[in-house]
Amino acid sequence: MCGIVGGIAQRNVVPILIEGLKRLEYRGYDSAGLAVIADNKIHRQREIGKVKSLENLLAADPFAGNIGIAHTRWATHGKPSTQNAHPHICNNKVAIVHNGIIENHQALRNTQKAQGYKFTSETDTEVIAHQIYHELESTNSLLQAVKNTIQHLEGAYALGVLSKDDENTLITCRKGSPLVIGVGIGEYFIASDVAALLPVTQRFIFLEEGDIAELKTHSLIIYDKDDQIVQRPIKESSLKADAVDKSGYRHYMLKEIYEQPNAIAETLEGRFIDNKLQDVAFGHNAAEVFDSIKSIQILACGTSYHSGLVAKYWLEELGHVPCNIDVASEYRYREPVLADGTLVVTISQSGETADTLAALLEAKRRGALYSLAICNVPESSLVRESDLVLMTRAGPEIGVASTKAFTTQLVALMLLVMAVGKRFALSKEKEAEITAELFQLPRHIEDVLQIDDEIKILSEQFAEKNHALFLGRGTHYPIAMEGALKLKEISYIHAEAYPAGELKHGPLALIDAEMPVVTVAPNNHLLEKLKSNIQEVSARGGQLIVFLDESIVSEPDENVQIVRIPKVNNLIAPIVYVIPLQLLAYHVAVLKGTDVDQPRNLAKSVTVE
Ligand code: G6P
Repeated sequence: MCGIVGGIAQRNVVPILIEGLKRLEYRGYDSAGLAVIADNKIHRQREIGKVKSLENLLAADPFAGNIGIAHTRWATHGKPSTQNAHPHICNNKVAIVHNGIIENHQALRNTQKAQGYKFTSETDTEVIAHQIYHELESTNSLLQAVKNTIQHLEGAYALGVLSKDDENTLITCRKGSPLVIGVGIGEYFIASDVAALLPVTQRFIFLEEGDIAELKTHSLIIYDKDDQIVQRPIKESSLKADAVDKSGYRHYMLKEIYEQPNAIAETLEGRFIDNKLQDVAFGHNAAEVFDSIKSIQILACGTSYHSGLVAKYWLEELGHVPCNIDVASEYRYREPVLADGTLVVTISQSGETADTLAALLEAKRRGALYSLAICNVPESSLVRESDLVLMTRAGPEIGVASTKAFTTQLVALMLLVMAVGKRFALSKEKEAEITAELFQLPRHIEDVLQIDDEIKILSEQFAEKNHALFLGRGTHYPIAMEGALKLKEISYIHAEAYPAGELKHGPLALIDAEMPVVTVAPNNHLLEKLKSNIQEVSARGGQLIVFLDESIVSEPDENVQIVRIPKVNNLIAPIVYVIPLQLLAYHVAVLKGTDVDQPRNLAKSVTVE
């Protein structure tokens, strides 16, 4: 799970590739590299760290070329180092960049070593460069050499391939990893994601699984997995290059937190006619599918898993819809029992998370008849693998810590609760109430964003802390989990979430003045129980920060700081209460001076297992 970009043009591609890499850094950022062919030679530069370091190196020692490939890495095989950074080169002739994992790399490495190939890295990728070189011994065609090579590869790959003997050919292919071709005038580009290429084109071809393409300045030929020439449609992207700018915010994460009212409004738009949710919003045959399902199985990872947990409460509570949920990486390897009539719902911002995709395929293998993806990227693998789709329309999310994708997922899931719930126990009155509340959400979120300054001051209490506990009950337990995840991801403070009722079974032993306890307390049927849990912590000297519905009267307590949250209907409260937790994590991270948008060791889109 890395980012690749490449291009063939009648101009110098180096600045285009560098800009593309910067836009792909969310996929990994421990090292970066770039290679071009010029004067019948491969020119390559690689550097540890972010793309900026590579850019500085190239500024000091520049080169140019009309054909090139580049890569930003998130280490899987081999530590972050210059040697392990891509592009990888074989015998100064073949250069490649790779996103994915080659599972049989050890066997290939052994064979190639016996053939006399020298390895300069610990990566699984280098075998691909050697194999292409090897194949070129028996053909002059780079395309044919790559076609032969991929026959030997097991695992996932998106590749960009160059040969110094062919300055007018860039080969690309994909299996299990994303890849788009950007179509220009007399020029073509490749990238892991459209965002990388928006400064040069808005016209894209999305390669299908198993496709391989030969790009020259004036021609593009695509072969499908059966080696047949195919035409893939060119799609016009509505994204603008500045959709991925910071627009004056200090960090993408802050920008994305503030974009939530708009992203939610976009996600709701066009789904209702006369205040009635339309089944067709999920796909043309959605009504038929929803009529026949008996239960729901949710699969997701990370933040998306947390939105699924909230949905499970909603489905059961509001619709009496039986619902199971699994972390995708667990589901794919256990022996789940899939009941007849189960709708498999995957949730993913990127639509490329390897575990989520594999879990969906596993569910299908086990006989799941219908699948629905809730996703933010229209052309993603998950969307293409699913029968029904409900797009969140959050726009590009760049900050590694997910924010607007989460709240738009919750909105999309509430739409699912309505669509399926009304076929179970959801009353017309409740459906109307939810509809009205959803349309009020952008306004409520604007209101809660007003307490940003208060949260910024509060965050100072966390800067010196090493641990934090997050508590919630019911639908707000997953919100506490999401708050803890945000804090640990970007501030590196160890944070755990507990359902507040579980405190007495262990975590109470941890309570002291050094561990802040963050509690999410909307005004719902669990409030009185939660108040008792708060007392249990306070009585033991614990320091509590309680996000409390403004309409609740609370007794003064020196151990408890109250942050008032504007009153909202319980139906939508989880979507509102997560906002202050996002802001809290953000401000703590800024105070601690961490890399907010690109926290250490993480990546936004995890396309490897
Ligand atoms: C990574 C990201 C998380 C994200 C998770 C699932 O771990 O850092 O922010 O929640 O992947 O990603 P998805 O794209 O499937 O929602």
